[in-house]
Amino acid sequence: LWTASNIVEDAVANVRAQVGEANVLLGLSGGVDSSVVAALLHEAIGEQLTCVFVDNGLLRLHEGEQVMAMFAENMGVKVIRVNAEDKFLSRLLGVTDPEEKRKIIGRTFIEVFDEEATKLKGVKYLAQGTIYPDVIESAGSKNGKAHVIKSHHNVGGLPDDMAFELVEPLRELFKDEVRKIGLELGLPYDMVYRHPFPGPGLGVRILAEVRKEYADILRRADYIFIEELRKADLYQKVSQAFAVFLPVKSVGVVGDGRRYEWVIALRAVETIDFMTARWAHLPYEFLETVSNRIINEITGVSRVTYDISSKPPATIEWE
Ligand code: XMP
Repeated sequence: LWTASNIVEDAVANVRAQVGEANVLLGLSGGVDSSVVAALLHEAIGEQLTCVFVDNGLLRLHEGEQVMAMFAENMGVKVIRVNAEDKFLSRLLGVTDPEEKRKIIGRTFIEVFDEEATKLKGVKYLAQGTIYPDVIESAGSKNGKAHVIKSHHNVGGLPDDMAFELVEPLRELFKDEVRKIGLELGLPYDMVYRHPFPGPGLGVRILAEVRKEYADILRRADYIFIEELRKADLYQKVSQAFAVFLPVKSVGVVGDGRRYEWVIALRAVETIDFMTARWAHLPYEFLETVSNRIINEITGVSRVTYDISSKPPATIEWE
């Protein structure tokens, strides 16, 4: 019988049987899948679990603090937070090509994660938030490893010399099932039903070379947008929403003076499968509130636009 509590019970028993007394490492991204794995493994094996959370400087505002508060402080999960912002940003200097950015971010993530893994002694297993659709997808891929560390970064596999065995307790589950067992495990509704966030994070939402100055502006704009969506009870009515930083200077008036400042684009879509999507018809009054807040509260932004492109031909992300 499929009930969330049966699934949790089974998964806990299976994990215990698989790993015994051994230690398990998990890359925690703050996304739904890796978070549910963290909660599940914490329930199953407690202290044998160590999570690594990599702050790449491309996360949403307060993301790192929230992950630490939820897992480390509230649940007592062992989480190592690695502040790797400088490393990521220095490697991204001067890079504008989106695919190149993705590769650099992916490679750097693996390197940082690998460094942490090497420091930990006696880890035998690597846990991953692979879900059933990932298994299907990677079945068609060349080496069958496309899903590896997917829950963290959709960037390909860990190096083969990392001799871990995999623990993948969500392998047979669909996303909605993963969410239900997340709730069953006590994760908050807002975390379990959050929008997807790409592995390369804000790196592919800054349509230019990634700079800290841009990321800081974008983070704050994104935060305002999401906060207002939640306040207006619209967050769950759209499938994904975010802000994009446009490296264009546009004129604005402040007092008697003209200023040339950056442009923020807002994107919100409705979709079932993320393969096709319709731009969300958000109320004008709502967009007005968000736009006013972004321009008034964030120095350096003079203009906000709303993206009305469907997928196809446009993609959901801007790069
Ligand atoms: P597109 O832009 O292709 O996005 O219409 C479809 C969905 O995929 C997400 N996306 C990514 N997720 N790494 C990820 O983990 C990536 O490089 C990446 N690119 C796009 C996007 O956010 C949307 O949900």
